[in-house]
Amino acid sequence: MAGKIASSLESLNDPDSISYLTQKEVAEIDEILLGDLGFSVDQLMELAGLSVATSIAEVYKPNEYSRVLVICGPGNNDGDGLVAARHLHHFGYKPVLYYPNRTLEALHTGLVTQLKSLSIPFLSIENLPMDLSNDFDILVDALFGFSLHGAPRPPFDGLIQKIVCLHSNDRISQKSPVIVSVDVPSGWHVEEGDVNGEGIKPDMLVSLTAPKLCAKSSSEFCEDHLVADPIDQFQKWVDDAVAAGLREPNPMVLSTASKDGKLSSRMVMLKGVDKEGFVWCTDYESRKTREISENPHAALLFYWKGLNHQVKVEGAVQSCLVKNLRSIFIVFLVVLRLQQLLASNWHVLHQEYKELEAKFSDGSLIPKPEHWGGYRLKPVILEFWQGEQSHLHDRLQYSIQEVNGRPVWKIDRLAP
Ligand SMILES: Cc1cc2nc3c(=O)[nH]c(=O)nc-3n(C[C@H](O)[C@H](O)[C@H](O)COP(=O)(O)O)c2cc1C
Repeated sequence: MAGKIASSLESLNDPDSISYLTQKEVAEIDEILLGDLGFSVDQLMELAGLSVATSIAEVYKPNEYSRVLVICGPGNNDGDGLVAARHLHHFGYKPVLYYPNRTLEALHTGLVTQLKSLSIPFLSIENLPMDLSNDFDILVDALFGFSLHGAPRPPFDGLIQKIVCLHSNDRISQKSPVIVSVDVPSGWHVEEGDVNGEGIKPDMLVSLTAPKLCAKSSSEFCEDHLVADPIDQFQKWVDDAVAAGLREPNPMVLSTASKDGKLSSRMVMLKGVDKEGFVWCTDYESRKTREISENPHAALLFYWKGLNHQVKVEGAVQSCLVKNLRSIFIVFLVVLRLQQLLASNWHVLHQEYKELEAKFSDGSLIPKPEHWGGYRLKPVILEFWQGEQSHLHDRLQYSIQEVNGRPVWKIDRLAP
């Protein structure tokens, strides 16, 4: 079993070889941790809570997602939720606790005391908002974990239903909080997952020790997992890429074609994305710009290796204004000089680079070169591709359709 733990942890670095634990293996690992290896329960709780808080902080920054509701249940997860809330407070979030059936062991009462000493509020059932979407940016589901047997009882059944409703289709136009589940989404079967498909659909699942078998089904990519707007879906995958440790998810391949259909591709950096489209910056005198002026139709391609995710985007391109270009121009100026001097003298190049560095080291604004600016591709087709170990890869495509004179995104599954 110790070998199993080691290989589970090792495989976390390679998503293709993640091993998933059965309920029996989880119990056996716990037995080893608390037995032969001499861990105490509070040590494991502290580690779990810190892992949850750190994972949240990695993806959902406190300046955008400050209001966190941590829901602690009667299962084994309540301590993890309490510790996570304490760390989230120190990381700059504003956590609020909902902890109806408190465990009265010293470990838990101590954590409650610590949270109260930090003035972290505890909500009663009367104070819990009917609609959780308005008051919170993040919901931490630390209700049941893998300890749930049978159907959840009141007030937890109603609470789970409230969380499920947050992501139902008729709510999709409203901004709803992201759901972070601890170890096993509440109500799911540890091995079989969301058996009837009507359970919580977490945006983030924080697996403790190693993922349980249910996490495998949570990572399967089907129409139910897509959000209605492809830009929100794209943003979700960018967040996933960052959460998976990818520091730079924004390089993309830009393909353009000349008026006589000759194609060319190159890497560019995604500078921003919103409902209007995907923005990058480049030189107005470059080949890509010339081709865009002849033929505005272009394609973008993203690939995030660790997750085996690919996104293809097609649409027409227009020039646009881009704010905060300073950092790009620093690179631009160096590249420009590189191009100009490549054929001449390497020493002159270094000298010029040093001069530029000294000139702008005081933080003064680098003037925007006349022939450098932004371009935006407005998407009409986006394809999200997820590679599966089975090689039955999933391809889901959004395309624009007119419904009652209004553009609406339609989702189709593509094959092969
Ligand atoms: C990772 C990476 C990022 C790049 N980002 C940009 C960019 O944001 N803008 C740009 O003009 N060129 C960028 N380049 C350089 C382009 O790939 C390309 O060489 C250059 O823009 C000239 O392309 P063109 O002659 O086809 O127009 C990048 C290259 C790499 C490898």
